[in-house]
Amino acid sequence: MYLYQKFGFVNTKDLFKKAMKGGFAIPAYNFNNMEQLQAIVMACLETQSPVILQVSRGARDYADKTLLIHMAQGALDMMKRIAKEKKLKPIPLVLHLDHGDTFELCKEAIQSGFSSVMIDGSALPYKANIALTKRVVAYAHKFGVTVEGELGVLAGVEEKVHSDVSHYTDPAQAKDFIKKTGVDSLAISIGTSHGAYKFKPGVKPEIRLDLLRKIAEMIPNFPIVLHGSSSVPQNAVKEFNNAGGVMQQAIGIDEKQLRSAARSVVCKINVDTDGRLVMTARVRKILNEDKKMFDPRKYLGPARDALKEMYKRKNIEVFGSNGYFRK
Ligand code: G3H
Ligand code: 13P
Ligand code: ZN
Repeated sequence: MYLYQKFGFVNTKDLFKKAMKGGFAIPAYNFNNMEQLQAIVMACLETQSPVILQVSRGARDYADKTLLIHMAQGALDMMKRIAKEKKLKPIPLVLHLDHGDTFELCKEAIQSGFSSVMIDGSALPYKANIALTKRVVAYAHKFGVTVEGELGVLAGVEEKVHSDVSHYTDPAQAKDFIKKTGVDSLAISIGTSHGAYKFKPGVKPEIRLDLLRKIAEMIPNFPIVLHGSSSVPQNAVKEFNNAGGVMQQAIGIDEKQLRSAARSVVCKINVDTDGRLVMTARVRKILNEDKKMFDPRKYLGPARDALKEMYKRKNIEVFGSNGYFRK
């Protein structure tokens, strides 16, 4: 039995198989704190959707790598107990390293109980990306851990993930890459990007579904991953701005386009920004309305509720991952 199995996590293999066959995508949500984690796990339990819990380098720096793992294990135990109480099926949980950028980081994650890792060599020259990804795959597979590679560069500015320009994924290169590396899934660049400002005002906010189709033709039935897929809900932007925040012309990915991607070969869709936005907008609103409030439970609790609703809606309306056990 592998280490992550002892903890109760699963890798992505069977989930992606089912997602590919059933025309839906598995949600991959980032967490950095308890309230985000609770919202994600409860939303997914209540919609009966599997979920990929993502830990970034930024999250490890913020919350501590050891604590994050114990939090994920605690969330798993909580989920199982509540599932029993509510007569629901316990949902599959994947613990995934998001944007691992070195072999050592991936190795450490694998040895501490992660069931899935991303090795992001997308900023490296092609041959170096292949060499690094291949090395991580060879190591990870010995421990039953699945590996996500990345080809093509997403634009966007995040604390630990930076690029000013995007380079779309080349379909022929994608075929060569998966053959040479042995990765289990591939993150591609088709116009999504990290952060809240994904499209310049005046530019049609569209991702390249035509390119996705070409890639799918080159590597049929191979699990594709979309990063940078927050939709930046405009009601949350409004709530944020109405409470004194400043967020101008924030534009996300069209949910209809995401739905269509999820129906085809996209098996994993990454969302972090929407969680940050919805949570912060609600906290701003509450603190703005009650200047005397100083109990964190009174603003983080409602923010957690708002987050949970947002994740539930995404599972049902965008990813189609709800009702997993009937699919
Ligand atoms: O794709 C990147 C994620 O949104 C993580 O960002 O490194 O600031 O936690 P972070
Ligand atoms: P967003 O910034 O669009 O939420 O993307 C998150 C992501 O790709 C995490 O890896
Ligand atoms: Zn990402």
